[in-house]
Amino acid sequence: MSALNKKNILLCVSGGIAAYKAPELVRQLRAHGANVQVVLTRSAENFVSETSLQAVSGNPVRNSLWDKSAESAMSHIELARWADCLLMAPATANLISSLASGATPDLLTTLALATEAPVFVAPAMNLKMWDKPATVRNIHQLKTDGAIVLGPASGDQACGESGMGRMLQPEEIVEALNNHFSATTLLAGKRVVITAGPTREAIDPVRFISNHSSGKQGFALATAAQQAGAEVCLISGPVNAQTPLLVERIDVVTAQEMFDAVMAQLGRCDIFIGVAAVADYKPEEVRSQKIKKSAETRNSSLKLVENPDIILAVTQHKNPPYTVGFAAETESVIANARAKKRRKNLDLIIVNDVSDARIGFDSEENEVTLIWETGEQVLKKASKELISQSIISSIAQSLSGVEPSAAL
Ligand code: PMT
Repeated sequence: MSALNKKNILLCVSGGIAAYKAPELVRQLRAHGANVQVVLTRSAENFVSETSLQAVSGNPVRNSLWDKSAESAMSHIELARWADCLLMAPATANLISSLASGATPDLLTTLALATEAPVFVAPAMNLKMWDKPATVRNIHQLKTDGAIVLGPASGDQACGESGMGRMLQPEEIVEALNNHFSATTLLAGKRVVITAGPTREAIDPVRFISNHSSGKQGFALATAAQQAGAEVCLISGPVNAQTPLLVERIDVVTAQEMFDAVMAQLGRCDIFIGVAAVADYKPEEVRSQKIKKSAETRNSSLKLVENPDIILAVTQHKNPPYTVGFAAETESVIANARAKKRRKNLDLIIVNDVSDARIGFDSEENEVTLIWETGEQVLKKASKELISQSIISSIAQSLSGVEPSAAL
C-alpha cells in the first residue's frame, strides 16, 4: 500500500505555466489513496481552472481568505491543521519570496504560516529568475526553515529558453512525497553519525591544505536521516551551511579533530556515514609564523605526513556500526570504489565521479552508484536532497536484509 494512502495533502498552486500540470498531479495523488484539497492563487486561475481541479480532487477549491461560505465550512486554520503536508506546486519566484519572508498576502501563504505540517516546494520559473541572487537566497532560507525543496529540473522552458527552472514531473513529485511518508519511521530508534565538509590542515597561521567540499551532500543526508526518524549527530569541517533542524552538530577543523570527534561517538552509533572529504595528508610541521616569501623559501618543498584514516578506524572498532563510505573518484570510478570498499571493510560505498563539474563537489546535484558486496544501485542525477532520501531508504532496506542483487 502506498505511504500516501489516506494522507491529507493540501496542494497550493501559484501562477506559473506549470500550473497546467496541477490536475494530473491531483489525479496521481488520489491514485495513491491521498485526500487532496486545492488552494489557488488569483494568478494561478489564469493557467488552470477551478472547475477542473474541483472535479479531479472531489473537493471545493479555495482561493480567498475572505470567502465567507468556505470559511464557515472549514476555516483556514482548520484547513492548515487538516493537512499532513502542504505541497506548493508550481511555486513561482513570487510565492517563494513570500514564503521565505513569512509574508501572508493571500490564503495560500497564510496557510503556509499557519500549518505545523511539512511544506514541500516545487519551484518553476525561467532559468534567469532561478539563478538570481534573490531566488538563491530565498531557497536557502526556505531550506533552513525546514521546507523540502523538490527540483527544479533542467530542460526546455515555455519561454523558449533551456536550463534549470522546470517544475518536476507530477510522478517525480508524487514519488518524493511517497518517499517522505514511507521514510518517517525507516530509521526510528537508530543513532546515525555523519561526517561532512572538508578538513583543513594548517601550513602556517594563514595557509592551509583543503579541498572543494561544501558540506551540501553531508548536510542533506543528515536532514534525510533525521526525517527518517533517526537521532543524528553531524560532525562537520569548516563549511558555510545551516545546521539541519533537530540535528546535533559538532564543528571540527582538522582530520585529527574529526577523528577524535568520531571516536567519541562510537559507543552510541548504529550507522556511520563518512561523507567528509578528509585530507589524507597534513604538513609535518606547522610553522608558528607566516612563511615569508624569500630566496630561502622560493625552492622549498612541503613535507607531508599521513592523517589517520577515520572510516578505517570505525570499521576496526570492536563493535562497529553499519559503515557507509563515500568515494570521490576521477577515473576508473567503479573499480576504484570497489577496491576502496574492500580496503576499508565498508558495508556500503557510494561513489561519485567528481571529474564531472555538474555533480559532486560544491554543486546542488549529485549522481551516485551505491556498491554493496552483493550488488549495485545507480541513482541518476538529482538534487542532493532527493539523492539523500534514496540513500537513506536503501540503507534502511539493507539493514533489514534487502540488498540489490545486480550482478557485479
Ligand atoms: O560536500 P559537497 O560539496 O556536497 O561534495 C560532496 C562530496 C563530493 C565531498 C561527497 O559526495 C564525497 O564524495 N565524499 C567523499 C570524499 C572523499 O574524501 O573521498 P575519498 O575517496 O578520499 O575517501 C573515501 C572515504 O574515506 C570517505 O568516506 C572519507 O570520508 C573517508 N576518509 C578518507 C580519508 C581519511 N583520512 N579518513 C576517512 O575517513
